[in-house]
Amino acid sequence: MTNYAIILAAGKGTRMKSDLPKVLHKVAGISMVEHVFRSVGAIEPAKTVTIVGHKAELVEQVLAGQTDFARQTEQLGTGHAVMMAEPALEGLTGQTLVIAGDTPLITGESLKNLIDFHVNHKNIATILTAEAEDPFGYGRIVRNEQDEVLKIVEQKDASDFEKQIREINTGTYVFDNARLFEALKNINTDNAQGEYYITDVISIFRQNGEKVGAYTLKDFDESLGVNDRVALATAEEIMRRRINKEHMVNGVSFQDPASTYIDIDVEIAPEVRLEANVTLKGKSKIGRASHLTNGTYIVDSILGEHTVITNSMIEESEVADAVTIGPYAHIRPGSHLAQAVHVGNFVEVKGSSLGERTKAGHLTYIGNSEVGSDVNFGAGTITVNYDGQNKYKTLIGDNVFVGSNSTIIAPVSLGDNSLIGAGSTINKDVPADAIALGRGRQVNKEDYAKRLPHHPVNK
Ligand code: UD1
Ligand code: CA
Repeated sequence: MTNYAIILAAGKGTRMKSDLPKVLHKVAGISMVEHVFRSVGAIEPAKTVTIVGHKAELVEQVLAGQTDFARQTEQLGTGHAVMMAEPALEGLTGQTLVIAGDTPLITGESLKNLIDFHVNHKNIATILTAEAEDPFGYGRIVRNEQDEVLKIVEQKDASDFEKQIREINTGTYVFDNARLFEALKNINTDNAQGEYYITDVISIFRQNGEKVGAYTLKDFDESLGVNDRVALATAEEIMRRRINKEHMVNGVSFQDPASTYIDIDVEIAPEVRLEANVTLKGKSKIGRASHLTNGTYIVDSILGEHTVITNSMIEESEVADAVTIGPYAHIRPGSHLAQAVHVGNFVEVKGSSLGERTKAGHLTYIGNSEVGSDVNFGAGTITVNYDGQNKYKTLIGDNVFVGSNSTIIAPVSLGDNSLIGAGSTINKDVPADAIALGRGRQVNKEDYAKRLPHHPVNK
């Protein structure tokens, strides 16, 4: 039988107190609705319809090209939201998964189990439920003495007795596709919130004598519905545990997994060692046996094997094997560091390529530069790439030695094997094999210091 899916993502998420639609808030680097979309992929739906409404364009952008969309112009409730999928799904035979866009922890495996359970029990509707320690805020599953599901009652509509029920509705269901849209014609807004509830179709099916069931998650964590920023932080923490555990199983060492922050799409090779307070974001990849120390922060960057990154930040850059960076270095977007490059403390590299074994040990800025191999930058070297309006390039050949405290004013090029005297200001091209000195000559005034009041002869 064919599977279909409806993802509810039209709500504002008032309790988030945010300008961003709730489902676009991120957990481990991707939005909640993307997490849900990825899990839904496990049931291989023939068609997925995502219901969008509040700031619809923003949500559509995130999932563009991956799902159909239906607009819910007024957010009249979850039942009303599902109705919006009818034009896309009517007349189709099969079962339809309905899932909320704010439950980022539900796994694909659980969705597959839910579908199997639904099909095996020949249900018309199956609810994904969980046992909550604190069920506050969730819809409760009301069962009869035979343990059959009767209905779902929302927190705001629940009697004191019903509020004691700890089995909750995760907001995920499977329905017979045709029957779902039939039943939706009979729901109303007769409830505490004056909304059309998707949950009301359950009692409608029961009244018609149809078979309704519930599949209960083993792990309550999966069911977490994110309605506010407290739950968002909880979701982040649970997701972090899952991600880090997977890396450990794959051969990555963590000094303290609870304080290591890795986005879901980051790839890490075995034998990598991560100290506490390391953050790896976006689509970063870390090569085998690299060692990242406390405080390292890497965004959308690719690191080779055996790199050592000491308390440094790397953004949108590529770093080859055996590169050493830090402490306190900043590699900014568009940089390429070739094999065995060393970038030391208080060095910033931006939009530059550094050839093999090139070293910038201390207090240096390299911007918009193409640098060859085996170059040595003395402490305090600055490439001057900006005149207040435009950026210019610096070209540096192989085996160049730049003396300390040199200012290299772009556009300029330093030829292979050239040497720049310490303290130089260079604004003319330097030919290969030349020594360039761009500084005032030293003058010594004999005995002049004796004229100064601090000199011993004046005391
Ligand atoms: C819903 C369930 C509740 C369940 C809980 C699980 C209903 C009536 N209640 O409550 O039983 O325990 O989820 O997390 O369904 N949405 C729309 N359009 C709307 C309203 C909501 O698309 O008009 C979307 C939201 O963007 C959200 C999802 O539906 O992704 C759930 O809405 P929300 O308001 O968070 O429902 P809950 O009150 O949490
Ligand atoms: Ca919710």
